[in-house]
Amino acid sequence: CGKMVKICCIGAGYVGGPTMAVIALKCPAIEVVVVDIAKPRIDAWNSEQLPIYEPGLDEVVKECRGRNLFFSTDVEKHVAEADIIFVSVNTPTKTRGLGAGKAADLTYWESAARMIADVSKSDKIVVEKSTVPVKTAEAIEKILTHNSKGINYQILSNPEFLAEGTAIEDLFKPDRVLIGGRETPEGKKAVQALKEVYAHWVPEDRIITTNLWSAELSKLAANAFLAQRISSVNAISALCEATGANVSEVAYAVGKDTRIGPKFLNASVGFGGSCFQKDILNLVYICECNGLPEVANYWKQVIKINDYQKSRFVNRVVASMFNTVSGKKIAVLGFAFKKDTGDTRETPAIDVCHGLLGDKAQISIYDPQVTEDQIQRDLSMAKFDWDHPRHLQPTSPTAFKQVSVVWDAYEATKGAHGLCILTEWDEFKTLDYQRIFDNMQKPAFVFDGRNVVDPEKLREIGFIVYSIGKPLDAWLKDMPAVA
Ligand code: NAI
Repeated sequence: CGKMVKICCIGAGYVGGPTMAVIALKCPAIEVVVVDIAKPRIDAWNSEQLPIYEPGLDEVVKECRGRNLFFSTDVEKHVAEADIIFVSVNTPTKTRGLGAGKAADLTYWESAARMIADVSKSDKIVVEKSTVPVKTAEAIEKILTHNSKGINYQILSNPEFLAEGTAIEDLFKPDRVLIGGRETPEGKKAVQALKEVYAHWVPEDRIITTNLWSAELSKLAANAFLAQRISSVNAISALCEATGANVSEVAYAVGKDTRIGPKFLNASVGFGGSCFQKDILNLVYICECNGLPEVANYWKQVIKINDYQKSRFVNRVVASMFNTVSGKKIAVLGFAFKKDTGDTRETPAIDVCHGLLGDKAQISIYDPQVTEDQIQRDLSMAKFDWDHPRHLQPTSPTAFKQVSVVWDAYEATKGAHGLCILTEWDEFKTLDYQRIFDNMQKPAFVFDGRNVVDPEKLREIGFIVYSIGKPLDAWLKDMPAVA
């Protein structure tokens, strides 16, 4: 397609890093530079120890880095040189002012847009990669055109659908790539240019083009639907426990209906991650702003059930152990919001640990991918503060003395009264539970928040077992938890 295309991506995070690495891998003739204001992050991308853990990512980066994939803090230079600029900065929930606790904070986006306007000397295609409120493109367009100095900007919306833990697989074989643009001749040309990038490896029929607002809203809607499925099955899990039904059997039977489908129907202690809650709150806010309170309340319920599920879990733990965990050692296995990632943003483990600490438990945490420093920071951070740049976060949080972090599940469970499984890491399925039992206080409790263990096998060893949505032990029936 004529001259060599140059791509620059602003934001070297969980989205910017992997997506650009895969574009560079699949399009050797395109130069891709990922820029970020956070120097430690860029240094890490240029080192042997990448800043994020994602299966398959190391190999992709190793193959392209220095060839046609570069990581740099020289934001302005690379933005000025690029033809296509992806913006993949964070879009946290506002913590102050209008829409606090709900609306998206577009500070980072706006400053990126102003910087693009400042440094550009040639026409640019600006691609929204971050998840943004509907109509953000219009605001960005205004910033750019009011500062344009005669330069032509085209704004595209190209939301990212990858899931952490399977990012590389998802990027190699996306269910779809969505590109929204203006319906003008220039808009269509820009859509076509981005389409040509993806067409290097994505089949044509999987590349969907829409108008800008449909693309922006589709991403919010997709996350809302996904989270809603989890809250739906979690709501049913509470009823299963009350009635003696088994949520795995119910989910299997329900998922066999081809209109519903079997995926994403696992009951758990609750969803986490940087996106679901933030994007639903954002959707709720947009509905309210558009005079649709009924629609807003409908989606709000998805988050309420998620919060309910987490507190229900904590209540079950405390109630089963004679209504107090004060001074008792509780092991927490898994802290990341799901397996195969070290990401702890909005992980249910934070709320569960807070609940247990509120009842004065001694917590010993093991997660194969999360550091002590990260865990202490997460536990001491105020709600919604996690998605603001690290330099705005407390540097030396007061460490919780009741929390210890260890590098081994056996160490975490030694002398504990109970153990909580909060992430579905594969290794938790094959632990030597007999050995764990032998080294725990009695009665020994297992609270499985991810349905990874076989409750029958653990009961044979002697554990009292609680598995989300599964028939309860006689013990648990005798110690009902009030949610
Ligand atoms: P992140 O926080 O990991 O990365 C964002 C990066 O942008 C940070 O490294 C930050 O330093 C940088 N940044 C902020 N302002 C900047 C500026 N003005 N100039 C240069 N760099 C700047 O966030 P993550 O997870 O990559 O998410 C980015 C966006 O993608 C969010 O809107 C999110 O909702 C969306 N998204 C996230 C997914 C995920 O699984 N994490 C999946 C799909 C979309």
